[in-house]
Amino acid sequence: MDHFLYRDGALFAEDVPVSEIAASVGTPFYCYSTATLTRHFRLFDEALEPLDHLVCFAMKSNSNQAILKTLAELGAGMDVVSGGEYARAKAAGVPGDKIVFSGVGKTATEMRAALEGGIRQFNVESEPEMELLNAVALSMGVVAPVAIRINPDVDARTHAKIATGKSENKFGIPIARARKVYARAASLPGLEVTGIDVHIGSQLTELEPFEQAYKKVAELTEALRDEGHEIRRLDLGGGLGIPYTRSNEAPPLPSEYGDLIKRTLGHLGCEVEIEPGRLISGNAGIMVSAVIYVKNGEGRDFLIVDGAMNDLVRPSMYDAHHDIIPVKEPEPGTAQAPIDIVGPVCESGDTFAKQRHMPPLVSGDLVAFRSAGAYGAVMSSEYNSRPLIPEVLVNGDQFAVIRPRPTFDEMISRDNIPEWLL
Ligand code: LLP
Repeated sequence: MDHFLYRDGALFAEDVPVSEIAASVGTPFYCYSTATLTRHFRLFDEALEPLDHLVCFAMKSNSNQAILKTLAELGAGMDVVSGGEYARAKAAGVPGDKIVFSGVGKTATEMRAALEGGIRQFNVESEPEMELLNAVALSMGVVAPVAIRINPDVDARTHAKIATGKSENKFGIPIARARKVYARAASLPGLEVTGIDVHIGSQLTELEPFEQAYKKVAELTEALRDEGHEIRRLDLGGGLGIPYTRSNEAPPLPSEYGDLIKRTLGHLGCEVEIEPGRLISGNAGIMVSAVIYVKNGEGRDFLIVDGAMNDLVRPSMYDAHHDIIPVKEPEPGTAQAPIDIVGPVCESGDTFAKQRHMPPLVSGDLVAFRSAGAYGAVMSSEYNSRPLIPEVLVNGDQFAVIRPRPTFDEMISRDNIPEWLL
């Protein structure tokens, strides 16, 4: 459920007409709903009751300061994957002891920054990373809290580019080697092992792969405890999928996911962390774009809009489906015709949808790309020298620009001309 609904024939973001925001900030832009973010965060938080738990928002899905602050005020922790994300989390006021640091390629500089600023735990993904972290911590005279990410070799049954839990993926330590790696970790004085971490992929639409992975985590917890390791924390990753279309079967609910966690791992008495990104921010955002032209091609028509692949790359990168709806609600019974919805970028890949059934639209009409709050703005670029588009946050009947659109001059002035060209 989200808070982008038609009311009196027009699309609203909570209590604000989307057309009013468009008139104020221009198109294209991203628009997020506080109520939706809040609702989704709370669903997870409640789903894990009564376990001792922390919901760490995977901020790679949306890292705007205002979004992070909104979630942090609800009690969210953050899952970060770079020095930049760590800095953003801290700037939004998230305390270090609520930040987990994931990712396969942490550098010594990133480790040092997190150890200085405070960190709940590093999710260590390889033996060389473990050795480096130990050395960095020792050089600073501190002990680094770590969970070791295991790769459970489970098929997440999702898009190949976002599956992470199979042995051929670059993530984690093969579960078969876990005991050896934990033994080594226990011998390193710069590390304090707190638990186990697992994340098998993103946009999972079934619970079964989670169940397989979590059962393996439960077995490993017991095996490691038998060997004298104090496993007190389990980080179960993110990945629960969202409905991208109104028509397809809905993925499991956070409450069902929470029940699965309690069923498979509850008996271990561990503190549980999860790292959801998409389910919190995905349907809390839309991208609003205006029709530039309706072009009649040979055998097919094109709706050319002012948003493009550089603004929302998911359709060209993953063949992802986003529902695209007119901001002015069509009259009931309006005939729909198939049309290709494309952006202005000079690539055929700049196609959002092929032969999508849409009501008649004309130049200047607004359309909203739904489910664009996760992996939308964060994956955008300035390709074709199109400045990054603004982001707007709605809260009830108020809205605020949370990232303005840069001017052409601002975009250009980031480049430097070397002396020999002056
Ligand atoms: N934790 C870790 C360690 C992750 O790698 C990810 C996502 C998450 C949590 C959050 O997963 P989520 O709950 O959002 O599914 N750009 C792609 C998605 C990439 C996901 C990468 N890792 C897309 O647009 O579909």
